[in-house]
Amino acid sequence: MSEPHLAPAIDVRGVQRVYQAKPKDVVALAGVDLRVEPGELFGLLGPNGAGKTTLIKILTTLLLPTAGTASVFGFDVAADAKRIRRIMNMVAGGEQSGYGILTVREQLWMFSQFYGLGRREGWRRVDELIEAVGLAEQRVQRVSELSTGQRQKMNLARGLLNDPWILFLDEPTLGLDVSAARTVRELVVEWRAAVPGRTVLLTTHYMAEADELCDRLAIVDRGRILAEGTPVELKRRVQRESVFRLELDRLAGGAAALAALPGVVRAATMSDGAGEVGRERQSVVVNLVLDDDAALGGVVGALGGLGARIVALQKSEPSLEDVFVELVGRGFDDEAVHHGERPGPPPATLAEMTHDTEEAEPLGSEVTR
Ligand SMILES: Nc1ncnc2c1ncn2[C@@H]1O[C@H](COP(=O)(O)OP(=O)(O)O)[C@@H](O)[C@H]1O
Ligand SMILES: [Mg+2]
Repeated sequence: MSEPHLAPAIDVRGVQRVYQAKPKDVVALAGVDLRVEPGELFGLLGPNGAGKTTLIKILTTLLLPTAGTASVFGFDVAADAKRIRRIMNMVAGGEQSGYGILTVREQLWMFSQFYGLGRREGWRRVDELIEAVGLAEQRVQRVSELSTGQRQKMNLARGLLNDPWILFLDEPTLGLDVSAARTVRELVVEWRAAVPGRTVLLTTHYMAEADELCDRLAIVDRGRILAEGTPVELKRRVQRESVFRLELDRLAGGAAALAALPGVVRAATMSDGAGEVGRERQSVVVNLVLDDDAALGGVVGALGGLGARIVALQKSEPSLEDVFVELVGRGFDDEAVHHGERPGPPPATLAEMTHDTEEAEPLGSEVTR
């Protein structure tokens, strides 16, 4: 896998996918173009129904596009499905592990045999991966007795058994608690970093996850890519001005003294000084809006003349949610559901997960036309 590859890891051109359904057909992908380079950790961020899973299914050769072409490391999804299956793997969030009666070690070994590893090589890889994902203590525990987080670690180990060049992760932290989700993210990052060229395509509807993990990402909604870039580039789209939170020990002349400086669009003292209560000296917090980051130097330089010392300085970043709202004109509807009173995933998601599981066997299942 370390040999140089000229082909992009993912090359999607004009891909459309229509599901035949009643009362009318569903356009899940309405013309998608996407290019991911080898070694990238690329994210598809979008609400439920955006078409993320459909695109992953096309790239993992489980589903054919209705129109357009897609290739993985130069292999066409329609013509070279077998080759793609050899160099990729997929892990989906909420994946049900069907063989609850097996132990973790047996289950993984069984998959190692599906993936064509030899008997001894299979056991070696299984034990190595069990260790790597932190399931050593559960290795002879039945799969049915694992917690959700442990099961997802096992699924991740399963996804790494064939040493893929590219790993497709469809909402890999769906339904996991904070700590298990963090572990899964860390494992993905470590795996990718260990060998140059390892590529990850991840889907998520968790903004913070996309922001934290992805080198680049595409915001998708209703079967289209609305914007693409690094998290920083995307957030810059909604914030052309630079906003800083500036905390000073004191400020003679108040915020007005700062507002007069070159490059300062606005400066206002902030009333929420709750954190400052109890300090000997009350500090002043200023919300500082500059027309460009470069104006900061002048402001910092001028502060000395105003007899003020900087206690803290922090750039206020917009979130990917702000980007989504600006692009789509609404928030992530879905988030409201996930944070609702109902514990666990809502029924719609569960139904989708079950449906996905049936089709999501990464290797050896039939292509749906
Ligand atoms: N097998 C199917 N039959 C009919 N419609 C489907 C099928 N699978 C997905 N869809 C629809 O296609 C759209 C995209 O779904 P999906 O790719 O699962 O989105 P996401 O993964 O972003 O939530 C949704 O409107 C969904 O209801
Ligand atoms: Mg999905």
